[in-house]
Amino acid sequence: MRVLLVGSGGREHALAWKIAQSPKLTKLFCAPGNAGIAEHAECVDISSDDIEGLLKFAIEQAIDLTVVGPEAPLVAGLYDQFNARGLKVFGPSAKMALLEGSKSFSKDVMSRFGVPTAAYEVFTNAKEAMQYTLETEMPIVIKADGLAAGKGVVICDTSEQAVSTLSKMMEQKVFGPAGNKVVIEKKIEGEELSILVLTDGETILPLASARDHKRAYDHDRGPNTGGMGAYSPSAQFDESMIGSIIDQTIRPVIDGLRKEGSPYRGVLYAGLMMTADGPYVLEYNCRFGDPETEVILPRLKTDLLPVLAEIADGKLCQKSLEWHEKACMTVVMASGGYPGSYQKGLSIHGIPAAKAIRDVVVFHAGTALNEKKEVVTSGGRVLAVTALGGNLRAAYDLAYQAIQHIHFEGGFFRRDIGRKAMEVLK
Ligand code: GLY
Repeated sequence: MRVLLVGSGGREHALAWKIAQSPKLTKLFCAPGNAGIAEHAECVDISSDDIEGLLKFAIEQAIDLTVVGPEAPLVAGLYDQFNARGLKVFGPSAKMALLEGSKSFSKDVMSRFGVPTAAYEVFTNAKEAMQYTLETEMPIVIKADGLAAGKGVVICDTSEQAVSTLSKMMEQKVFGPAGNKVVIEKKIEGEELSILVLTDGETILPLASARDHKRAYDHDRGPNTGGMGAYSPSAQFDESMIGSIIDQTIRPVIDGLRKEGSPYRGVLYAGLMMTADGPYVLEYNCRFGDPETEVILPRLKTDLLPVLAEIADGKLCQKSLEWHEKACMTVVMASGGYPGSYQKGLSIHGIPAAKAIRDVVVFHAGTALNEKKEVVTSGGRVLAVTALGGNLRAAYDLAYQAIQHIHFEGGFFRRDIGRKAMEVLK
């Protein structure tokens, strides 16, 4: 099978690493890829947003399957344009990608199919939204309706903060048209959990559970990021509970959309808050999580490629996935300044020493090769240093042993990934 993978982050490196192990693979391309992905795939210089360029390449190269990492090309209609030319894509149509691409669409789907989610209101008028926040009990969450590069969700503890956030989103348009509409919802408290499933719109294959760490600094302090580390499986919610969580939070939507004539195909990622009243869906994403993928795929024994291909064909025959018993942890090493502005092009030292450790994989998230073919930084999240271990503690020890070998100017990482879970397990 000739495969084109779209994207350039740690998630795509984990996908490339896994797909490259498939006996069914004959050739793997990645557009645009990164310095780590280049070890498994031929990287081609086409941006993940350039759907026309990707389509032309896929036709020229007789690609059998295109696997899409990020959400933006799916929301922009990559599936639909490829499908119109008879090309197979793993990922949902533009209409179904709105589960991530429009927060109001997503909340409406959840309420239509009875999925537990926080009470919400939708506004297109800034003044009305501001007035509402003045009359509403805090804390609340304000979400820009459209895609905002992971920055469009803001927790507000005071009405002053809420008014200022609404002004930035709806009047100053810091996220462009993504802020023309906003969803305002009640903040719910609990433990976060990421549940991802693979589906052809009918059969649901759960992936292993994972727990992300979104704040930049230790003890969940500092600004929100795309994710600074993760582990799998979740320590708090064992696999036997996951089936019932999926029945409450994912199955009603998959069944409901199919019955309405729009089956959701691809990966569906539910960001959940586990509360005293059960699971609540915070958001759906139409893609694999990052860095969740970096801890889920190393635990997967089953060959992923045929499963992705069956889903792209609309008929999932595989009925279950096999998992390694081991736990997996990833620690993200980020550029100084991330999630704000940061320098690029800094030399990274020590990756070979880290990779040489048994059961360690260093996934590249934001790297490139410079003109001397040295690995340099090129993004906010630079590396996801990943380790497997007999239990969470062993995976933690190994991941932190590996990351000590790696250096680049200003690079930082959290030192407490999985620490809370280890306390629970004790
Ligand atoms: N880890 C968070 C995300 O992928 O959205």
